Amino acid sequence: MIDCQNLMKIYKIDDDHEVIALQGLDLQVEDGEMMGIIGSSGSGKSTLLNMLGGLDRPTAGKLLIDGKDLLRLSDKELVKYKLETVGFVWQNNARNLIPYLSAVENVEMPMLIKGHHKRSRAKEILEMVGMGHRLHSKLGSLSGGEQQRVAIAISLANNPRLILADEPTGSVDVKTADLILDVLRNLNRELGVTIVIVTHDTQLTKKMDRIVAIRDGKTSSEILRRSHFLHENTDSEESLQEEETHVELAVLDSARRVQIPEEYLEAIGITDTNKVRMEMEEDKIIIVNPK
Ligand SMILES: Nc1ncnc2c1ncn2[C@@H]1O[C@H](COP(=O)(O)OP(=O)(O)OP(=O)(O)O)[C@@H](O)[C@H]1O
Ligand SMILES: [Mg+2]
Repeated sequence: MIDCQNLMKIYKIDDDHEVIALQGLDLQVEDGEMMGIIGSSGSGKSTLLNMLGGLDRPTAGKLLIDGKDLLRLSDKELVKYKLETVGFVWQNNARNLIPYLSAVENVEMPMLIKGHHKRSRAKEILEMVGMGHRLHSKLGSLSGGEQQRVAIAISLANNPRLILADEPTGSVDVKTADLILDVLRNLNRELGVTIVIVTHDTQLTKKMDRIVAIRDGKTSSEILRRSHFLHENTDSEESLQEEETHVELAVLDSARRVQIPEEYLEAIGITDTNKVRMEMEEDKIIIVNPK
């Protein structure tokens, strides 16, 4: 679904200043995958999502989504891509929803823009996200979690192949966050839609097939689940067992470089130098402080 290689995004602030938000990022996502992206503030998560969603154009690199080359699409093709191929869910409800319209009218809106508006379909989607009982409620009368479920319904309006969610649970409590994630998980299973979620919440990442960590605009490591998530409503004991099946792997980029976590370097006293000694020992590669 997504093939992203050596992706660069440079924001030009003024004539003398630029920010390198993505510096040669590699990411592959399979069709039907539900994956998470984590990383500290400013690491480039939203920038990446904006590139994937066609909201902004990459500076350089390769970005293929569902067979479309996002660096080569014309403006017109990009508009079509945003309307038909991807659906967006934001953290901030105001960005997802039109407050003076009802839930069902909100879901119809992207359909209207595309030109195939169908009330029955809008109702069906709201039922899928568990909002069938509030079809005609104005958005303002819904709770944060309910509004976020409507936002998910809106993102599904034009049957996208890919849903991009930037901190979709950022402004709701833990229990609601869990519920929203279950809604996404079910849609992923039932519709086969590929889902990429940016999240800070490490509790939620346990529910995903794979988590990619971004550091300084590059993918630095991946956390993989060894067995698939089998028990949805696990009690605490079962979820503990699930945790143990996660394994974190460092990512080799296309030039075979690997990022070493800052805390590892600090632990061996590498703070004010950019040199390390690398040694080969039997089947291990060892990095040593040269001092
Ligand atoms: N439109 C922009 N113009 C200039 N710089 C930008 C722009 N958008 C993002 N940046 C910069 O790019 C870098 C990556 O930002 P980004 O928003 O992708 O981070 P993030 O990982 O989503 O952070 P957070 O967790 O805080 O949302 C930051 O240094 C940010 O200041
Ligand atoms: Mg962000």
